Amino acid sequence: MERMRIAGGVPLKGRVKTQGAKNAALPVMAACLLLRGRGMRLANVPDLNDTGTMIELLSALGVSVKRDPDERNTVVFDTPDSVSCEAPEPLVRKMRASSLVLGPLLARCGRVVMPLPGGCSIGSRPIDLHLKGLVQMGAEVDIRGGAVYAKARRLVGRRIYLDFPSVGATENLMMAAACAKGETILENTAREPEIENLVAALRGMGVAVDADGIGCVRVAGSDDLKSCSARVIPDRIEACTYILAGIMTGGDVTVEDVVPEHIDALLAKLEEAGVAFSVARSESSASVAVRQPTGRLKPVSVKTMPFPGFPTDMQPQIVAALSLANGVSLVEENIFQGRFLYTAELNRMGAKIDIKGNTAVISGVRSLDGVSVAATDLRAGAALILAGLAAKGESLVENVEHVLRGYEDMDEKLRSLGATVAFETADA
Ligand code: UD1
Repeated sequence: MERMRIAGGVPLKGRVKTQGAKNAALPVMAACLLLRGRGMRLANVPDLNDTGTMIELLSALGVSVKRDPDERNTVVFDTPDSVSCEAPEPLVRKMRASSLVLGPLLARCGRVVMPLPGGCSIGSRPIDLHLKGLVQMGAEVDIRGGAVYAKARRLVGRRIYLDFPSVGATENLMMAAACAKGETILENTAREPEIENLVAALRGMGVAVDADGIGCVRVAGSDDLKSCSARVIPDRIEACTYILAGIMTGGDVTVEDVVPEHIDALLAKLEEAGVAFSVARSESSASVAVRQPTGRLKPVSVKTMPFPGFPTDMQPQIVAALSLANGVSLVEENIFQGRFLYTAELNRMGAKIDIKGNTAVISGVRSLDGVSVAATDLRAGAALILAGLAAKGESLVENVEHVLRGYEDMDEKLRSLGATVAFETADA
């Protein structure tokens, strides 16, 4: 168990570079299973517990996966002619996104055994839409003994309408379709930037993919995929977290290597809340600078929605920020039930948050107090760290290993902005 000790109340100042997106890296890494006797070089892979788990999982399935010794964030994959089709349970249970190997393994091997990933602390997370799509493509799916057994001699391209624009189902079905017979047309797909990243990687492998950006993806199946190089996009959630760190501490932070269009939902809310920021673009990238606010944030209403709506993965962090606003804000969670567990911890720091159904009613307070709190999941942990940075006095955020699943070098990055933070082992 790890924890983070934070001496709060220091205005953060300086520049911080965004890592590669965890949620974009994971599906592209899983896509290497589609290759036969070919390889992939993937740049800008964040060095995190979750990408480490995906490396372990792919290795267990028979792929040779190595980090480039000269470039920490580049991972090189060599996929042999034959891979195992049985995903080991301990790895799948460690990370829900392990289920992203389901589609490519089935397409590639004709058979897959995949333990069910189970629930998690942000609510129930079924994979029925992934399975329904695979059945429409001709798979026989059986669930017994806590595992999915799927088989299909060859998946067949179909028109598939997703009942909800699930990110994982869109990714799994795109990968399954890449090796299916004929064309698959996916409708009502997720439109998150991470989907575009997977489209680019599949195209690099020689798969004809056409994504219209408004919820329709066409994939022409191929059995001759080639070696490729791909790059992971910047992590929009990490970028937004550091933007809020600047705002909440009354600092002056510039976040570099951002795609502004990916964080429009947050920028729009910041504008409404009275935050001054500027976006600077160069030929190859962009940065967002937040200027020291002149007063408290104005209260705002936020509703989480699929992209381009406000991301559920930024909900805990915006709640932490609004807990210091000058008035009552409402934050409605529409993607995951049970994603407000952490608000009890924020309240222990002096926040005033009431949960009414799927809405957090946040009565802004002037300041938060440094206390000991415990992270319940990745983004909740990030919210508690933000609150600790802004609070008066010292905070201890327990179970911070959840946060390490998604934020690379968070302690070093915060220290480079002037924060006094340190990871500790809880029983030290
Ligand atoms: C991905 C992200 C996660 C983010 C989420 C929503 C990764 C590795 N994780 O998760 O960080 O919070 O998108 O942006 O990319 N659902 C079903 N049946 C299904 C699939 C999903 O009912 O078969 C429901 C889920 O329970 C949830 C909603 O759809 O309520 C959204 O889930 P989904 O978009 O699939 O999220 P993930 O891909 O799991």
